[in-house]
Amino acid sequence: MNKHLSLPLYKTPSSLLSDEKFFTQIDNNRIHSKNANGHSVRNVFIETYGCQMNVSDSELMAGILTQAGHKTVADIEDADVILLNTCAIRENAETKVINRLEHLNHRKRREDNLIIGVCGCMAQHLRDKLLKAAPYVDLVMGPDAYRNLPMALNAVASGDPFLGLQLDKSEDYADIAPIRKEGIRAWLTIQRGCDKMCTFCIVPFVRGRERSLPLHLLTDDVKRLVDEGFKEIVLLGQTVNSYHDGDYDFGELLWRVAEIDGVERVRFTSPHPADATDSMIDAMENCPQACKQLHLPMQSGSTPMLERMRRTYTAEEYRELVAKLRERIPEIALSTDVIVGFCGESEEDFMATYNLMEEIRFDSAFMFKYSDREGTLANKSLEDDVPETEKARRLNEIISLQEQISAEINQAIIGKTVSVLVEGDSRRDKDQFHGKTDTFKTTVFPKENAQIGDIVDVKVHTTTAHTLIGNIIGDNC
Ligand code: 5AD
Repeated sequence: MNKHLSLPLYKTPSSLLSDEKFFTQIDNNRIHSKNANGHSVRNVFIETYGCQMNVSDSELMAGILTQAGHKTVADIEDADVILLNTCAIRENAETKVINRLEHLNHRKRREDNLIIGVCGCMAQHLRDKLLKAAPYVDLVMGPDAYRNLPMALNAVASGDPFLGLQLDKSEDYADIAPIRKEGIRAWLTIQRGCDKMCTFCIVPFVRGRERSLPLHLLTDDVKRLVDEGFKEIVLLGQTVNSYHDGDYDFGELLWRVAEIDGVERVRFTSPHPADATDSMIDAMENCPQACKQLHLPMQSGSTPMLERMRRTYTAEEYRELVAKLRERIPEIALSTDVIVGFCGESEEDFMATYNLMEEIRFDSAFMFKYSDREGTLANKSLEDDVPETEKARRLNEIISLQEQISAEINQAIIGKTVSVLVEGDSRRDKDQFHGKTDTFKTTVFPKENAQIGDIVDVKVHTTTAHTLIGNIIGDNC
């Protein structure tokens, strides 16, 4: 069992002691109104951890709860139900949630009516072990059980915890309208689950088998999203480009979405290299709304490691795919995921990863130390034998390499003009906007006469490894 689960969960973490305001503002005598079925209307706060799929699932949960007459609230202090939508991909993702639960338990002891739920991948991964470690949790619910949320809230009101852990290959939530924050970019789940079975990965065990949503429903959704003011659609799936609906493949879906009136940009995440078909590449190359950007998880640059990871491609095949993408779409920006310190990774294997990153020169990368996950194929049959200090050293080496490459790639943009979809105020300066280029680079610039949702030309004068800074040129200035 995860060693962090044996923490004394009733202890008050010292970080909380200074946070008195948080507790004194809680209203212990909140009066509940009733919905049409005579059940209490709950004020639900959803806190999301992990990947974009979880953000999208939280929107779905909000949709399900709202449909049942409950309310979602933006301030946790207004909530009488707190749902943590969690991640299980690495151990530290789960540790974070355990710490958060300890914190929430402190509040729960002062507030009789408070319901605490753990939803998502960590719930599915730890199942009833979670209740043993955190007995005050009222509800444990995996990603295929959200339809039961309203029923679960009624059930736990009577005192018993609720476990919703059935994985269901037929559950695609196609009939549920998610509740999204207003904005410019909408994330649209086109596929749930994963069939790939990479040996390091917990996802197939906590999200179940792969299933695609029907194309006609997705295009209807996109039309609605455009009507609501969204300009950019990001198609989401665990291996998004293995999408298929009968004869329609992922390339076809990209075209269909891009051609909907009002869609300015379409992107997707995360594809699997083995599913990067010509149909996908054709759509990316030829469809004007398809962004010239691809997040292409590499994981390792060593073929023996890739085999051990069951990635189903060799380092050479990955290199060839990158070459093909760059030949067909010269301006394409590439990003990746890399794991160091996987079972049996030698210095030579690590150097193969380092060298391939140096050769390919990704625009950016998410880099991780391997984290052994109970239930995965690697956990059952391979030894997690790279010492922690060695994992850390390898991680630091590729992070420094990538920082340097990202900075150099961005520096080469200085003096050029990029096309930016304006998203909102810059966090640091309200007189500036931020937005993304077609290649998904964050860009910051003075507002001039631009409006949120405009696509503006920005001439870049300064860059960092992660941001472009410039001025609008042309009509909007
Ligand atoms: N340990 C470390 N990183 C992992 N990832 C997935 N599983 C693990 C694990 N057990 C990384 C992969 C994946 C990204 C989402 O998380 O790089 O692409």
